[in-house]
Amino acid sequence: MKPEILVMAASPSADVMAQLEQYFHCHHLWQQPRQPQEAWLAGVAPAVRGVLTTGAIGIKADLLARLPKVEIVAVNGIGTDAVDLDATRARGIAVTNTPGVLTDDVADLALTLLLSAARRLPALDAFVRDGSWEAGKPIATARALRGKVCGVFGFGRIGQAIAARAEAFGMRIQYFQPRAIEGVKAPRAESLLALAQSSDYLVVAAPGGPATHHVVNADVLAALGPQGTLVNIARGSLVDEAALIVALRERTLGCAALDVFADEPRVPAALRALGNVVLTPHVASLTVETRHAMGQLVVDNLRAHFAGQPLLTPVQ
Ligand code: 8YV
Repeated sequence: MKPEILVMAASPSADVMAQLEQYFHCHHLWQQPRQPQEAWLAGVAPAVRGVLTTGAIGIKADLLARLPKVEIVAVNGIGTDAVDLDATRARGIAVTNTPGVLTDDVADLALTLLLSAARRLPALDAFVRDGSWEAGKPIATARALRGKVCGVFGFGRIGQAIAARAEAFGMRIQYFQPRAIEGVKAPRAESLLALAQSSDYLVVAAPGGPATHHVVNADVLAALGPQGTLVNIARGSLVDEAALIVALRERTLGCAALDVFADEPRVPAALRALGNVVLTPHVASLTVETRHAMGQLVVDNLRAHFAGQPLLTPVQ
């Protein structure tokens, strides 16, 4: 008998979806209409042995509590901040994620956002479309990237991949995270505040969770300053979004380029109304190749677990 798994979200890879059907008895929560979801869940929950979720959705203690036989939570993403790790640990439930395979695409989107902000891409696109160019209106001058300081907050795999790309654009790199990293040539700032003070661009690439909640606060934004740009490809929870809106509105912060938000998919109207922001809908890992690789790693972890073999990418 195939192990029963609860699939919280679909993968865009048809091949991954086919493998899930081949190896598991899948209960697709994402296919259920909102209203009768409760009754449906009550019917399937007692037999569920595995959960497939995403970095953004995770799994909360109340749902875990309804799954008495669950043995593994496989996250189709790198972030585990939305998984109640205390609850999984307490019950001995295995947790896996997908490190490594999404690094390049996430770093690519960070640079896409940074460049879009620096060169004002959304405004220029609108300028051509709305006939402003043809009408001979003046075009605002952007600022060059070369020589500017790119501060990377969180210098793990993704942070370092962002740094390598920014360096290729002639930027000077520095980083901050609590633990210094041996063998990297970029200097480590003393604190996040110090990093913001000495950076033109502050790129957030640190994990979400209680330890980093709202660490990018009003003081950090003020330190980044009116010529500064905040880029966030990590989690919305790291940034005090209300303070960010005020700073952008009052121009004490120059610009923000964001792929992640505090309450996705809801983005405050006040943020959407601003001209000095570039916004994308949490798509940093959303490429055909990466989503396939992530989904494959999820399938491989689930299969390893149910075959009694070591997990490929367990979360410590
Ligand atoms: C996706 C992410 O949102 O990896 C993460 O932690 O946030 C993203 O890659 C998601 O997990 C895709 O399933």
